[in-house]
Amino acid sequence: MIKKLFFLLFILVLSCSKNNQEDTKKNFPFVNSYSADLKNGRKVFNKACITCHLYGSGGSIMLNDSLSWSRVISKKNKIEIYSNVYNGYMGEKGPMPYKGGCIDCSDEDLLDAIEYILSVNGLSVGN
Ligand code: HEC
Repeated sequence: MIKKLFFLLFILVLSCSKNNQEDTKKNFPFVNSYSADLKNGRKVFNKACITCHLYGSGGSIMLNDSLSWSRVISKKNKIEIYSNVYNGYMGEKGPMPYKGGCIDCSDEDLLDAIEYILSVNGLSVGN
């Protein structure tokens, strides 16, 4: 029940943040030179991303779904993935919200969380 409420809240955040998404094509030069802090990534994940990505709720990819995550990194480079997380996008099965719904997350927090998700599956797009 609480999960469902959280999910609705995120959808709300997503619809409210639509107007802020003009920087979709923004270039993120720092992304390629940043090395992630996995400990912080885990914290951010547990705070912001867990609602959807722990069990793959809302059409997202489940944390432990190595096959799907490895497909993501084989198709997209670090900047594309980061930009999708930062700006949000409509996935095949559901919406990934702007900044994963974590409005107060810094750029580094988001990169750390992405790298944490991948590291759980023995993957990485980092340096
Ligand atoms: C409201 C649910 C929800 C939340 C919260 C959420 N995600 Fe997602 N995420 C999704 C969905 C849905 C997709 C799209 C899956 C697809 O491509 O079909 C997605 C996709 C992704 C992808 C793949 C991007 C790509 O380019 O393929 C990454 C990485 C990701 N999320 C990271 C995060 C991180 C990090 C957080 C927390 C800061 C987060 N997500 C929070 C639902 C969510």
